[in-house]
Amino acid sequence: MRPTEWPGVFRQGAELFTRNLQPGERVYGEALVAEDGVEYRAWDPWRSKLAAYLLRGAPRLPFDQPRALLYLGAAHGTTASHLSDLLPDARLFAVEKSAETFAAFLALARRRPNLLPILADAQLPERYAADVGLVDFLYQDVAQRNQVELFAENAAACLAPRGRGFLVLKVRSVTQRQPSAAVVADARSALAAHRFRVADERSLAPYSRDHVALAVVPE
Ligand SMILES: C[S@@+](CC[C@H](N)C(=O)[O-])C[C@H]1O[C@@H](n2cnc3c(N)ncnc32)[C@H](O)[C@@H]1O
Repeated sequence: MRPTEWPGVFRQGAELFTRNLQPGERVYGEALVAEDGVEYRAWDPWRSKLAAYLLRGAPRLPFDQPRALLYLGAAHGTTASHLSDLLPDARLFAVEKSAETFAAFLALARRRPNLLPILADAQLPERYAADVGLVDFLYQDVAQRNQVELFAENAAACLAPRGRGFLVLKVRSVTQRQPSAAVVADARSALAAHRFRVADERSLAPYSRDHVALAVVPE
């Protein structure tokens, strides 16, 4: 197991791994590898867009040792579980609106003390902003038409002034008519209007077709 340029992320061959916060437990059927008394979980880029982003050549992790994070679109917790491995001392608030999906995520969060699940619609940050407080990192993967506005509203409610963000843009959820480059250009302009700059942009193909990841920093 070799450390990588991304703190806390390891590599064995072509595969990425994180150190398992809950040794012996799998989250989504991933491989577990023990080495020198430490257990690592394989991080599947076909299942997690953050792993795909790293393997597509990300120059750095999109956050800087955050103490608190807000994750929009937790689903079953695949990516959130790897953030939980990477940031054991951070508080990771995770919002999911589907009650069915949330039930599975809740079971995961019970076993990982740094995961703080919130059943809510991310369109309504005023419902959870008081519980979350200010976070240093905002992660969004919700595949909705108004993805940038959703990000901006949650940033306004919960992101600290120097906080960073990671926006997974599902191009076809925005429009079927425009080419991907035009959708990304519109997203950049909308982010700029909210005083955010895109520090890094990466297509997630072939892992997640039709998705572009934007690492976002304040202007
Ligand atoms: C593509 S999945 C997220 C996958 C997850 N980020 C991962 O990598 O493990 C999108 C999730 O966003 C949730 N979602 C969609 N719209 C939402 C909203 N307005 N508020 C909260 N969650 C939402 C969906 O229910 C779904 O579980």
